[in-house]
Amino acid sequence: MEKYSIALLPGDGIGVDVVREGRKVLETISNIHGGYSFSFTEFDWSCEYYAKHGKMMPDDGLEILKNFDSIFLGAVGYPGVPDHVSLWGLLLPIRRQFEQYINLRPVKLLKGIQSPLAGKTSKDLDFIVIRENNEGEYSSIGGRMYEGTDMDMAIQNSVFTRKGVERVLRYAFNVAQKQGKRGHVTAATKSNGINHTMPFWDEYVEKISHEYPGISHDTVHIDALAAFFVSKPETMDVVVASNLFGDILTDLGAAIVGGLGIAPSANINPEKKYPSMFEPVHGSAPDIAGKGIANPLASIWCTSMMLDHLGQPESAKAIIDAMEDVLQEKEVLTPDLGGHSTTEQVGDYICEKLRARLG
Ligand code: NAI
Ligand code: MG
Repeated sequence: MEKYSIALLPGDGIGVDVVREGRKVLETISNIHGGYSFSFTEFDWSCEYYAKHGKMMPDDGLEILKNFDSIFLGAVGYPGVPDHVSLWGLLLPIRRQFEQYINLRPVKLLKGIQSPLAGKTSKDLDFIVIRENNEGEYSSIGGRMYEGTDMDMAIQNSVFTRKGVERVLRYAFNVAQKQGKRGHVTAATKSNGINHTMPFWDEYVEKISHEYPGISHDTVHIDALAAFFVSKPETMDVVVASNLFGDILTDLGAAIVGGLGIAPSANINPEKKYPSMFEPVHGSAPDIAGKGIANPLASIWCTSMMLDHLGQPESAKAIIDAMEDVLQEKEVLTPDLGGHSTTEQVGDYICEKLRARLG
């Protein structure tokens, strides 16, 4: 029997509530399946931890996490702790040290969800965005000078490496080959305005595309591509983008398929040399924290992505099916989706649907 060790990092605010429901779903589906099981270890690393210890995690935090099969994160962020502290103190070190160079975000309209794009159905909205997760525009290279004077200035450099660009592009072409619906890769660029890194990126898109003769591709300027997400999302299959462009595109992608309450993401180390990390796109939502009404579906979708990564695709699909059951019924939903139920009730109902489908 396969046994997966999972590090739980619920974090702050609603992260705690939604991770609890995600864990419940993982326990339920492994019990029904019977062929694998989970062991969970919870860590309280968060902004609250920061307030007590002056750091987001202990000095040997990454050493501890390294041995788990996967990491399941809620959200970090608390008013009073600057966002760059929580990001650079926990999330970015995990993503970078564990070479989670792929950030995966499905843009898939589940049955039962109404897209804000008029007339678009789940047939039109079904693609995946792959964001480069380790380098690019989010580099710490740069600095600030002459602060407090009229010469105040800041410089932040982008870093694009052959290794970093090739591996994310190869991953995207592989996804298009294995699971794409149209066998097409759309690469986000901006080589007209950003004239060193983006032509470099485009050059490698061309080079890598030759390794995949069966897959078509195009490069589209990021501004136009953002518009196409809205005007013709049905033409997308696999979209690949640099760190910053991917960050923006994926939030747009989340918005057109139902918003933050549902949107999942995965930070993947494809070689499985290190654990991958699964986290809802949303933050700690201080405005609704403690009220028990956070939508757990984003984090539950994350558990499906985790199971896919761990090699349990049937279980992964069953979770999506159960989510669609609940969404289509519309009886048990949190307020952000127009319902009156609590976080816990939605989590319990997903488990009930899983038992009804598989038990
Ligand atoms: P947010 O995602 O926490 O909230 C934005 C809005 O969406 C709020 O009105 C919130 O109530 C709603 N919302 C979010 N998730 C929801 C859910 N599951 N169910 C129902 N409603 C939901 O973003 P915001 O307010 O910009 O950031 C709050 C804190 O979270 C900040 O400290 C920020 O740095 C942090 N954050 C952390 C992230 C992470 O851990 N990866 C990602 C985004 C923000
Ligand atoms: Mg973002």
